Amino acid sequence: MSVKNRLDDMIININNCLSKIPKSQSVNWSHVSEIVSITSVCANELRLTKSFTVPFGRYLIFEDEFFNVQLDVFSENYVGAPHNHDTWGVMSCISGELGISDYVMSESELTLIRKGLLKSGSSIGFLKESDWHSTETFSGQQVASFHVYGHDFNLENGHRYDPFRGIERYERGVLHDYSANSGILELEV
Ligand SMILES: [Fe+2]
Repeated sequence: MSVKNRLDDMIININNCLSKIPKSQSVNWSHVSEIVSITSVCANELRLTKSFTVPFGRYLIFEDEFFNVQLDVFSENYVGAPHNHDTWGVMSCISGELGISDYVMSESELTLIRKGLLKSGSSIGFLKESDWHSTETFSGQQVASFHVYGHDFNLENGHRYDPFRGIERYERGVLHDYSANSGILELEV
């Protein structure tokens, strides 16, 4: 099986999960946990290509009207600002160790409630109602992760939290096309 086949399988399985949801219903914990399982298996079978250092950035693997899948490659010692996505999401670590912090936003006050660490093949999910989080990386193995978000996710702009300025709009970084950079993932052997 090739990396492309593996990613295609993951996308088909996510699509199958979401297509079961009636139009009158929204994505719930049961759907998110199914997608966590789907992406964990795929993330566990893949890794960043070891023979070169992949440039950090966002790579769009798939997008349709229901969800999108991005590959994030992080720089060393990255510390991201708390932000939200206005939709449900699943993050799965492919390579390295990804730190995740979860927050509760109440009346423009952000409270840290949990810190966790994802390793290859482990994932977390969130619903739209509690989607404030931040990510960080450390020194060591280059970090990459899948990010699956619902259709309300804006690929260009988002909202982040600054301790002095509060919630502010920001422009996300350049979104690269994964298909033009498909050598950056390889099968775990
Ligand atoms: Fe995020």
